[in-house]
Amino acid sequence: MAHKRICKAVFPAAGLGTRFLPATKAQPKEMMPLVDKPIIQYGVEEALAAGCDQIIIITGRGKTSIEDHFDVSYELEKMLEERGKTDLLAVVRQISDMIHVSYTRQKEAMGLGHAVLMSRELVGDEPFAVILADDIIDAEVPCLKQMIEVYNETGAPVLATQVVEGRAISSYGVLDAKPVASKWGHRLFEVRNLVEKPKMEDAPSNLAIIGRYVLTPAIFEMLASTPLGTGGELQLTDGLKQLLKKEKIYGYTFEGKRHDTGDKLGFLKATVEFALKREDLGAEFREYLKTLKL
Ligand code: UTP
Repeated sequence: MAHKRICKAVFPAAGLGTRFLPATKAQPKEMMPLVDKPIIQYGVEEALAAGCDQIIIITGRGKTSIEDHFDVSYELEKMLEERGKTDLLAVVRQISDMIHVSYTRQKEAMGLGHAVLMSRELVGDEPFAVILADDIIDAEVPCLKQMIEVYNETGAPVLATQVVEGRAISSYGVLDAKPVASKWGHRLFEVRNLVEKPKMEDAPSNLAIIGRYVLTPAIFEMLASTPLGTGGELQLTDGLKQLLKKEKIYGYTFEGKRHDTGDKLGFLKATVEFALKREDLGAEFREYLKTLKL
């Protein structure tokens, strides 16, 4: 059966980024550069590659640099043109040319579920994707594209998931899920329940929810009627639990490597790996790292 095409991707970017203070005191973590591109641009490029060309960014106080980044910069473009820097001009223009971006504000950081709820009017009555930009997924086939393929077959919400071993599981939403026989083999699970940040001994599995979701519009109704949860925040996990009563939800262990760039160590690791992969920087950077005699 053909399901509605997914062309909208929501980027909640109104969080406070406390794990990355002081860098995030006056600039959003989504604008921190991984090598030379803001983190959020990697996510936007992934959305585009998955066929979503309508981008919705949920911003908050102090996030205007995100809007400026995806806007046309006349002064900069004029200067680059006058100086004949056509390659840089192309880099600057590329992103604002390719996408249509809308913004809406979350006045107070009241949780991821609340941020997603803020996109209700812009998304309307259609399935959509959510990308948490600080989860950068390096994959041959973009992670969201993989997930939309699952959605296209099932018509049901799909949550990106990854095995997380040991105590670290307590930092995630965790799935209670059973494997489903499908063309994705051991990668597809049917969700039975979700638990937000459980103690290691209470975790129903080692399948953590990662920052990519394909959702149906029914989630908005669920979020609107979900009471505030842990820490006075509206948790997306709680909304998903309500949704599970009405719809099947799948967990999908994507192919690719995920970097948590909202965390300092994760950000450093991602920077090194992405720099080493760069054609223009990789070889020299590798030689430099070798001299460090670690
Ligand atoms: P995080 O759990 O990473 O929280 O949010 P955070 O506030 O951004 O960062 P830390 O943990 O304090 O360092 C996951 C995603 O949800 C968004 C964030 O911007 C991030 O993309 N978010 C979170 C919102 O948009 N609004 C919120 O109220 C909370």
